[in-house]
Amino acid sequence: MLVLGIETSCDETGIALYDTKQGLLADALYSQVDVHAVYGGVVPELASRDHIRKALPLIDQVLAEAGCDKSAIDGVAYTAGPGLVGALMVGATLGRSIARGLGVPSLGIHHMEGHLLAPLLADSPPPYPFVALLVSGGHSQLVRVDGLGEYRLLGESVDDAAGEAFDKTAKMLGLPYPGGPHVAALAQSGNPDRFEFPRPMVKHPGLMFSFSGLKTHTLTTVKQCREQTGLSDQDKADIAYAFERAVVDTLVIKCRRALRQEALKTLVMAGGVSANRTLRAALADKLAPDGVGVYYPALRLCTDNGAMIAYAGALRMSAGQCDSDTAEVRPRWPMTELTPPRPTP
Ligand code: KG4
Ligand code: ZN
Repeated sequence: MLVLGIETSCDETGIALYDTKQGLLADALYSQVDVHAVYGGVVPELASRDHIRKALPLIDQVLAEAGCDKSAIDGVAYTAGPGLVGALMVGATLGRSIARGLGVPSLGIHHMEGHLLAPLLADSPPPYPFVALLVSGGHSQLVRVDGLGEYRLLGESVDDAAGEAFDKTAKMLGLPYPGGPHVAALAQSGNPDRFEFPRPMVKHPGLMFSFSGLKTHTLTTVKQCREQTGLSDQDKADIAYAFERAVVDTLVIKCRRALRQEALKTLVMAGGVSANRTLRAALADKLAPDGVGVYYPALRLCTDNGAMIAYAGALRMSAGQCDSDTAEVRPRWPMTELTPPRPTP
């Protein structure tokens, strides 16, 4: 089954073609970073308009790259939520129209399920069951995964998501949007012995996260540096290091706790923050003594992309699931509402 995947939930237009026999045939991404960078964050209306401009040319591009005619498409998957309502509507309208025009089924995919399944696109995918750490700009969640659509929420952030905390720290340090990669790069030249930031919620039993206290601590440190001698480049690097270390340690501790609680030995991480190399190294290193295998997607599949949507769509549509006539986008959509695929009557 050849599935066209369309991702437009936020500030990236991702288009891909996935074939259930041959795997990923083509994958194209257009990032709107330059459009939003001047505003310091995503402007929803500009995002919707840019998706409208870019989606169709990218679809032509992936078809050409894969050497396929559009008549070969057997189904269209698009991100139906969560995300920005206008941006989601662009992908949904386009996906459903293309499917209708071709006479094939369409299916709205949950964006976080897309992230969660992205590591399964690797050559040696993780075996079920596993614990998933989903860390993106909008979500920080620990989920027990027993199979496709069999998700149990173990814990999540009570305030900011991990990616959001990275982005806000970047803003405080005067770094461009989206801040995660910039904070991570700056942290490389930070002095490990200068600051020790709090590890949020690690003393709390359970698997909830909170990053707002860490954000306040970061802001206080930035202000102190500014008042004392002005915020130097070294101050910024030292703060970036201390912040990243605190986030990473917190996530490692919570992952270890979740794995022990569920008696599982497989951890899968996904979402934009899973691109963070310090987090990847720390999880592999700190969980190795427990015999835990850590899996993550290829770097380009950590952040938003069309491949993960095409893949999730292929898994569900090949089991007979498709949109009903009344399908709508869901800007807010708890992942735990998902069920295993079942044929749509
Ligand atoms: O999954 P994603 O592309 O979009 C959402 O679904 O939100 O995640 C984007 C988030 C942003 O907050 C970005 O700053 C963060 O992922 N991010 C990183 C890194 N790369 C992206 N955070 C830390 N380190 C990175 N290397
Ligand atoms: Zn995402």
